[in-house]
Amino acid sequence: MICIPITSPDTESALADIKKANNIADIIELRIDYISNLDLKKLIEAAEKPVIATNRRKADNGKFEGNEEERLAVIKQAIELNVDYVDIEIDSDHNDIIKNKKNSKIIISYHNFKETPTNIEEIFNKLKSANAYIIKIVTTANKLSDNLKIIELVKKSKKPVIGLCMGPLGEISRILAPLYGSFLTFASLDKGKESSPGQIPAEILRNIYRINDIKPGFKIYGVIGDPISKSKGYIIHNSLFKKEKLNNIYLRFQVEDLKEFMENFSNLLAGFSVTMPHKQQIINYLDDIDLTAKKIKAVNTVVNKDGKLIGYNTDLIGAIKAIGAKTEIKNKNVTILGAGGAARAIAVGILAKGGKVTILNRTVEKAEKLAKELNCSFGSLKNFESVKTNILINVTSVGMYPNINATPIDTKSLKNIVVFDAIYNPEKTKLLQEAEKNNCIIIGGKEMFINQAAEQFKIWSGKEPDIEFLRSI
Ligand code: ATR
Repeated sequence: MICIPITSPDTESALADIKKANNIADIIELRIDYISNLDLKKLIEAAEKPVIATNRRKADNGKFEGNEEERLAVIKQAIELNVDYVDIEIDSDHNDIIKNKKNSKIIISYHNFKETPTNIEEIFNKLKSANAYIIKIVTTANKLSDNLKIIELVKKSKKPVIGLCMGPLGEISRILAPLYGSFLTFASLDKGKESSPGQIPAEILRNIYRINDIKPGFKIYGVIGDPISKSKGYIIHNSLFKKEKLNNIYLRFQVEDLKEFMENFSNLLAGFSVTMPHKQQIINYLDDIDLTAKKIKAVNTVVNKDGKLIGYNTDLIGAIKAIGAKTEIKNKNVTILGAGGAARAIAVGILAKGGKVTILNRTVEKAEKLAKELNCSFGSLKNFESVKTNILINVTSVGMYPNINATPIDTKSLKNIVVFDAIYNPEKTKLLQEAEKNNCIIIGGKEMFINQAAEQFKIWSGKEPDIEFLRSI
């Protein structure tokens, strides 16, 4: 179930938000402590979904200004108004509330805004022994494995339980805990209306992650990287899973410590995407890698085959398919701008297709090293005008948002060639805009992104995805 907290500052705007939340929430939490000029009766009546009344004190990141007696008095008032649930903290004077709960159900809660403490089990037992209907245990994730501690508690609880971790590293618990039996998960009505750090918009939890539709026995996929907050793969893969009616979920894992992640999560996952900065390091943790990934020395896709982790690289296929859809590669003079990991992958792919490669880079020594290894030509970006080019490929980061007016080379000499830019933000880089003006065929990085995601999906599911559907996403 998705619970939307109402965090409006007054009764009027709270009423407007409740109206919106009625359409997307399964349950609504009234954050009484946020609301000045409180008209509790009006608010409870406006909700078409069950209501939790919460009146949080400042010590628990709440906003209630009055003393403890006044705070509990408002909760008692909610009980008098027949509210469905009230939330009361384990370390407050909860016995009186529990005794006089009338028709309301009690949620006994624990929050920790600093950490997931080592004595979490003990805290959980204390919550269990309070005579409440639901146990709520909320901590802060300082490392990804903290999420697993909370999920374990959720899994084994016989009483209804709400469990999750807050903070950017806690995002996965907000999605996974309800799938493992958490009574509900909190979601924001909109971006900016979060009641605690890390809340995901309700629309995304319902329609992208499908947390109310995923059934037990689901498989977990995801992407690992650092930073990961801008990664959009979760939209693509979850939409594909939905379309293909697969009981799978795809999460974003903010992984700073690859070793810690692999120790704790690799068995849990059916497969995952790998992005910067882990594409090379991940190889040390795999049982096997395919030939292409071996040549590129980078893995962006992992599949868990009966406990064995196998690595692939779909970046290369993604790029080559995107270019191959617009032009023949064989015997063409292909100039690659950049000499990093992506340049290596694309150069390997172009050479395999029979293209003649020249690598140009700002730091010429790097271009030289890569070119010698792959047996092709090299030079500086400044040499571009003198290099015969049929296909130009940019795999430097020049032109990427926010520096959208930069180009890696002087664009004067671009004419009647094919230009591919691996950057997908912006969709049409300055390089592509200039190339288009000069009669070039242009290909944007979005095509590479779509094709590499399609290949990943194929590796994981064995199914051919609908590329047009991917484009529409
Ligand atoms: P990736 O794996 O995406 O290729 P990378 O290994 O960090 O990432 O490589 C980035 C590439 O962009 C390099 O070729 C880099 O050139 P240097 O080797 O000289 O660093 C290139 N690059 C980044 N910023 C650049 C800039 N401002 N001008 C020119 N090239 C740039």
